[in-house]
Amino acid sequence: MKQVTLIDHPLIQHKLTLMRQTDTSTAKFRNLLREIGILLAYEVTRDLPLKYVEIKTPLSPMSAPMLAAEKKMVVVSIMRAGQGILDGILELMPSARVGHIGLYRDPTTLMAIEYYFKMPHDIEHRDVLIVDPMLATGNSAVAAVDRLKELNPLSIKFLCLLAAPEGIAHFHEQHPDVPIYTAAIDEYLDEHGYIIPGLGDAGDRLYGTK
Ligand code: URA
Repeated sequence: MKQVTLIDHPLIQHKLTLMRQTDTSTAKFRNLLREIGILLAYEVTRDLPLKYVEIKTPLSPMSAPMLAAEKKMVVVSIMRAGQGILDGILELMPSARVGHIGLYRDPTTLMAIEYYFKMPHDIEHRDVLIVDPMLATGNSAVAAVDRLKELNPLSIKFLCLLAAPEGIAHFHEQHPDVPIYTAAIDEYLDEHGYIIPGLGDAGDRLYGTK
């Protein structure tokens, strides 16, 4: 299937450009990522099913649409940079359940090493949205999907802010059935696994650790 959806809304593009700039402060970077998280969530949830409920307006009864399963979605943040997008998504979907997976990149091999994994217990009855701002080598994203597939959720989507062509190719080699949603596809990965032109290290910029 290998579906890649580019969410290139002008507001997202504008905010992403601000995030990329070297002189954007930690506070501004964090707020922009949260705002973009809201906008990305809006797009990625377009296909959520609705149910009709009977309500009364001040003037008339009516049958009105509501989300069929607002509490059914699990947003899985790949720590630590995933937290930045997660915060925005939860503003839009406050009832969503949240899972965390802690992965760090071995600086030499660039392979993903897991240090934390906590999911809702009934995840097999839920749809999963994995979030991480950067799809670079794809190793973390692949490792996260590998682990989540072991738990057999109803569906899995992967949402990021920036993707490298190499990361998309690697991810879809391993998981062609998992759709990717991204706000931009950049040029290439450098020898250290950074996305070029990119925005630098998303975790460091989000938390001011560099
Ligand atoms: N992770 C980041 O934070 N930035 C990159 O460019 C690649 C991976």
